[in-house]
Amino acid sequence: MTSTPETQQIDQHAEEWRIRKPEGLLLPKDLLLSAEQSRLSVDRYLLPERLEAENQHLWSRVWQVACREESIPEPGDHLRYTIADQEFLLVRQRDGDVRAFYNVCPHRGNLVERGAGHSEELRCAYHGWCWRLDGRLQEIPDRYLITDATDDDLGLSEIACDRWAGYVFVNPAGAAAEPLGEYLGGLVPRLEPFHMERQRLVSWQTTEVACNWKVLIEAFLETFHVPGIHPNLVTLLDEANTVFERLGHHHRMWIPYGMPSIHFRDTSDRKVYESFLEQHFRERHLDQSGLSEPMDPSQWEPQFDDQGTIVGDRNAREYLIERQKAEGRVKGYDYSGLGKEQLIDIDHYLFFPNFVILAKADDTFMIRSRPHPTDPDRSLADVMRLRPLGSADPPPQVRQQHVEANNESYLKQIGEVIYQDFSNVVDVQRGLHANSLSHLTLSANDIRIRWLHDEIDEYLRDV
Ligand code: FES
Ligand SMILES: [Fe+2]
Repeated sequence: MTSTPETQQIDQHAEEWRIRKPEGLLLPKDLLLSAEQSRLSVDRYLLPERLEAENQHLWSRVWQVACREESIPEPGDHLRYTIADQEFLLVRQRDGDVRAFYNVCPHRGNLVERGAGHSEELRCAYHGWCWRLDGRLQEIPDRYLITDATDDDLGLSEIACDRWAGYVFVNPAGAAAEPLGEYLGGLVPRLEPFHMERQRLVSWQTTEVACNWKVLIEAFLETFHVPGIHPNLVTLLDEANTVFERLGHHHRMWIPYGMPSIHFRDTSDRKVYESFLEQHFRERHLDQSGLSEPMDPSQWEPQFDDQGTIVGDRNAREYLIERQKAEGRVKGYDYSGLGKEQLIDIDHYLFFPNFVILAKADDTFMIRSRPHPTDPDRSLADVMRLRPLGSADPPPQVRQQHVEANNESYLKQIGEVIYQDFSNVVDVQRGLHANSLSHLTLSANDIRIRWLHDEIDEYLRDV
């Protein structure tokens, strides 16, 4: 695209703040959509038939994140995972592997397990049928009363399960699923430097949100809503220099952080620096993990002149990078392998179809969106955080909490930023019902929403 006054201003803002964008990612101006690509039918978010098609043809054969490994650390630990109307059970095996089964008893259809827990065997509470941890039948009371099925016939029905970087993935397609490594493809080398397998879950809240699962996840696929929805972040990130990259089924965006939005380009170093610390401390206190406190600000305080400019060569963003490094040294975090931009910026991924990761060196944020079994206007949202373990930190034990949305305690638990997003998506879903609206008009800034729908369409093709 030829340069315009607007694009020149974006480039100039990047230059002023000396940001270095990773190779291969593109600004929205280089990703303009055709008229056809920019139109997105609202039926995709509203029709029960559409939801049913996704439940039948997408979720039944796609890899999806079920949980973190640390949620089921010991043999016999198990966790229930639901997607749409399907129920699965993740079980840590005696050899350390994780296996996944349909969480249903072949006798009369009861759920085998009702939640997270630990047991040496899997026993249905209704009539006592019982399986080993690997899903093989162990015992049926009064076994002689069943004559037309062998023990093999009555094992738990297994689905594909694999792990990467501490994430446990499942795929109901079972043996037909492509290998997880191939599915993840280009994501793997991008995320490896963060060593998420060494990070630990510090919070996990699940709540119901009154919007379609795609509306929910799409709220996290672009940054151009920041000035409107998150006025508290305009001193901290530059939405206009956010860049995008498609990675097979998945995609990425990289968000310059520790610098102001282009709409606040005259903001001083002092304002950026203080906003960063305020946000940093507020977010850290959201988790109940007992992991070490953030470094005391007085230990790493820049000097400002009368205009609020940092004295010396570094601007606020560069100073904050050094601060992050220093904090990492104090805490004993392993940042080897990360570029200096990764100490400050947000490296943002979608594990297609429904799992967003905001990777940061010292605080990884994750959002998962899951469809309701029958209602296109409802979904389940999981909000999770990971933190690296410092050399003096004991591993935290965190359990999933089910919480009610839209009340004050929820706001306190998930934090202001996510609360702002979750409040807004409810209005989006209501708006989508307008009789005047047949389709949305995506801009190039919404490119990841187009990529998401194109990929879903691949799964629904020929249906
Ligand atoms: S339904 Fe499970 S033992 Fe009867
Ligand atoms: Fe947001």
